Amino acid sequence: MAIQYDAGNRTITLQTRETTYQMQISGTGHVLHLYYGRRIDGACLDYPLVLTDCGFSPNSYENRLRREVSPDILPLEYSAAASGDYRVSALECVSDAGVVGADLRYVRHEITGGKYRLPGLPAAFADREDAQTLSLALADAVTGLEVELLYGVFEAADMITRAAIFRNRGDAAIRLDRAASLCLDIPFGGEWDLLHFHGRHCMERMPERTRLMHGIQTVGSRRGASSHHHNPFVVLMASDAGETSGTCIGVMPVYSGNHRTDVELDQANAVRVVSGIGGDLFGWRLEPGERFVAPEVILCHTDAGLESLTHHYHNFLNRHLIRSPWKDRRRPLLINSWESMTCDFDADRVLKFAAEAAKLGVGMVVLDDGWFGARDDDNAGLGDWFANEGKLPGGLKPLSDAIHAMGMKFGLWIEPEMVNEDSDLYRAHPDWALTVPGRKPAMGRNQLVLDMGNRVVVEHLYGVFSALIRDNGIDYIKWDMNRNIADTWSAALPPHRQTEVSHRYMLGVYELMDRLTGEFPEVLFENCAGGGGRFDAGMLYYTPQIWCSDDSDAIERLTIQMGTAVGYPVGAMGAHVSACPNQQTGRTAPFGTRAIVAMSGTFGYELDPARLSDAEKRQMRVLAERYDRFYDLIRRGSYYRLTGIAQAEDHVAWAFVGEGGRQALVNLVVTRTHANTHGIHFRLRGLNPGARYRLAEMVLEGCEQPDGAYLCGQEMTGRVFTGASLMYAGFTLRPMRGDYPGVQLLFEQADAEER
Ligand code: GLA
Repeated sequence: MAIQYDAGNRTITLQTRETTYQMQISGTGHVLHLYYGRRIDGACLDYPLVLTDCGFSPNSYENRLRREVSPDILPLEYSAAASGDYRVSALECVSDAGVVGADLRYVRHEITGGKYRLPGLPAAFADREDAQTLSLALADAVTGLEVELLYGVFEAADMITRAAIFRNRGDAAIRLDRAASLCLDIPFGGEWDLLHFHGRHCMERMPERTRLMHGIQTVGSRRGASSHHHNPFVVLMASDAGETSGTCIGVMPVYSGNHRTDVELDQANAVRVVSGIGGDLFGWRLEPGERFVAPEVILCHTDAGLESLTHHYHNFLNRHLIRSPWKDRRRPLLINSWESMTCDFDADRVLKFAAEAAKLGVGMVVLDDGWFGARDDDNAGLGDWFANEGKLPGGLKPLSDAIHAMGMKFGLWIEPEMVNEDSDLYRAHPDWALTVPGRKPAMGRNQLVLDMGNRVVVEHLYGVFSALIRDNGIDYIKWDMNRNIADTWSAALPPHRQTEVSHRYMLGVYELMDRLTGEFPEVLFENCAGGGGRFDAGMLYYTPQIWCSDDSDAIERLTIQMGTAVGYPVGAMGAHVSACPNQQTGRTAPFGTRAIVAMSGTFGYELDPARLSDAEKRQMRVLAERYDRFYDLIRRGSYYRLTGIAQAEDHVAWAFVGEGGRQALVNLVVTRTHANTHGIHFRLRGLNPGARYRLAEMVLEGCEQPDGAYLCGQEMTGRVFTGASLMYAGFTLRPMRGDYPGVQLLFEQADAEER
């Protein structure tokens, strides 16, 4: 049993393959958090909890003569404000009767088979035998607020999910000001670092590791989207933990709106993590009898370093979170029109673009922004989701038919949540946009945000987009969201519910995504928010891939994709080969290097095929074939950061190792070339030490010597090594000259005869 209750010592224990999580119901009814760490069987873990009287940390009334027992010191399973626990709170609330905070005590618990569901929200799923659920209810006797803590225990996947449901069982309304899904106390100090992923538009998810300081460190977003700036994913790393060893605890909210994770190092050098929906602009009114469902958080513990944490999250998200049938299907190699045409095209230009692409092994043409309404640039037209007949006479259908006739699929860009003032939709329904009456709204890309919390808006969008997909033979949708939300005021809500707008917005987005992806399972959906502004587990539930960044420069992408892949699977990362000089940075990198980087994501093109040289066109055909051959290894293999998360000095290397360690594909890109330098050394991981591996293939891209003879490894193709030698002694490439050369090396386990 993955979840056990011991009535003798009143402990509840959650067991996964490698971890144990234990809590205890104390004599006062507080639920103490005893342990989350490496697996321990059959132990009650309350004995290390030796308490001492700590001045200015109050005692609950029952313990007024036992001054060492304080809610401010005890490790708690869930913390509430104004209860004598001054550390960061998971719950902040005030009732209409004026009662602030809560004193949460145990009410009941229940253990069931399978995994709980969260109505209206994305959440991990499981077959009944893959997970168990613990429901643990705490309540405040004065206000009648009940908090049901939910734990999904995935024993084999070695992960735990957490969520919370708040119910008002009292007589007065209660406003939740913070309703976190997870509170995790780590009682016995240790030295901890916080790893988080910050960034900006065009430079998302850059890993930053800092030592915890006393006080509260917050990672979050109040932008109405999970954001380019602070991804909803943090890792607590023991200060001695590294890529392949040491304790790491991952916390990943499954949410695409305002989120917040606080990490506090307290007076006793204990650590508390509180995570879930963003608190600052949030308030949710619960009338008597109402409930609020807080989003899920995915929790992972490993003692085997960051690499193991990455593997846990990749496997878990692939298996238990991404629902699209496309996650296991071979996705077509696509070409997207945006960087080559922006909004400046007509049917003729698109058809020429498609005809050129068809010759190069491309499987799908995606028409990006500019096909609808009065969309000649990015100032008008959003909301008018009918084809611009000036550009596309007869609409989308003839274009879609023509592309299908060329043997390719047809994809389309949409931005459902937005509206331009200059649009028929806005002229007809100005009250559908989020604006504060009497105040000029803050504009972003000269567009406004639709009130997705308003059912009428969602219904309208559902009608428009379901017809669009159905009537035009659309095979793929790129769902974009190109600004953050500022004026959170909804014409559909009363004044006392305006602090609910941001979350209601997300519920509306999720509902629309749920309905459209449910109705069109054959359509491949890709998420996007000005690149990776909503690259989060919430979105992955609906769409199996997300455009990683509007920065398509391969060298910048090395960091962006490496940072993204710490938590998110490689197959989820939208990545394309774009033209050089790159539109965002002006940099020129070899075509093949750009392909190596894009292949470590979904792989596609973002360029005008007509402008390619004959050599590049030949290369594209070769790349299409290589993409096809490496597809399974990259998508299903385990991902290894050979150069770690710290910005490597002059090269970045990563590998994909196939199931059972049978194959390994090493990718390496030189980011800075030096004179008089040394060989580039790497050591593989994940191979079978005793097995023999042949260097089956080595492709060198963009190196000054066109035949690659400069590379010592070149003559090594065909040579056989042992797994142990490749992992412990490693492999050395000669220095490569030129700008941004790249290499791919394929090692294959040698067959029985060779051995
Ligand atoms: C966003 C996307 C781009 C492109 C443009 C179109 O910036 O990230 O890929 O679709 O919008 O306006």
